[in-house]
Amino acid sequence: MFPKEILIAPSLLAADFARLADEVKAVEAAGADLLHLDVMDGHFVPNLTFGPPVIAALRPHTRLPFDVHLMIEDPDRYLAEFARAGADLLSVHAEACIHLHRTVCRIRELGKKAGVALNPSTPLGVVEWVLPDLDFVLIMSVNPGFGGQGYIPQITEKVRRLAQMIAERGLSVAIEVDGGVAPETVGEVASAGARILVAGSAIFGAGDYAAAIRALRQTAEEAIDQG
Ligand code: DX5
Ligand code: ZN
Repeated sequence: MFPKEILIAPSLLAADFARLADEVKAVEAAGADLLHLDVMDGHFVPNLTFGPPVIAALRPHTRLPFDVHLMIEDPDRYLAEFARAGADLLSVHAEACIHLHRTVCRIRELGKKAGVALNPSTPLGVVEWVLPDLDFVLIMSVNPGFGGQGYIPQITEKVRRLAQMIAERGLSVAIEVDGGVAPETVGEVASAGARILVAGSAIFGAGDYAAAIRALRQTAEEAIDQG
């Protein structure tokens, strides 16, 4: 489903919100592969960001695929709206879905790539029986809600075990890692099996976006090559 190579997904959460379209164009020009959009509702996570109107407003300004990370309660209510707004990848949190399999199938019915996000404390078993219907699993390596937090070290082993689970079943589900991905952590994340790497502060907090993206990609690729 996804290419085997590394995909770098800058998280707009760390961008200058007064200049969103310019920031999106800047990371596209800097070599980003996807644009990660963090939707927060103030209930599932203790923070608020933006919803479908902002995503729809950005859609004409870039050709980057939109990777929409829904940190909201009862996401089923809004899936169609986010699909219409321009999402290409849509992830929901397992902790927010009572009928996770139904939700995942709805995302695919809407013609979008379906992902399930897991909080750091949520066991991998939660996705075991929906894996064949997923395009990707988003492993949170910080507690969702805020950018700029430190990577939780035991998540590397969680990513490794998920990669094993996917390989044992012969599936082609991509692993995305989100939170604290930076030059110091990206190598271990990639060698554990993650291929979609979200980075907010490590990219938007850098003076030179292109250099930041290049460095993350290069460190990740080198770590994979070294096995
Ligand atoms: C956190 C968000 C992340 C966040 C990552 O809830 O899901 O996407 O933007 O930010 P950094 O890369 O700064 O940890
Ligand atoms: Zn995110």
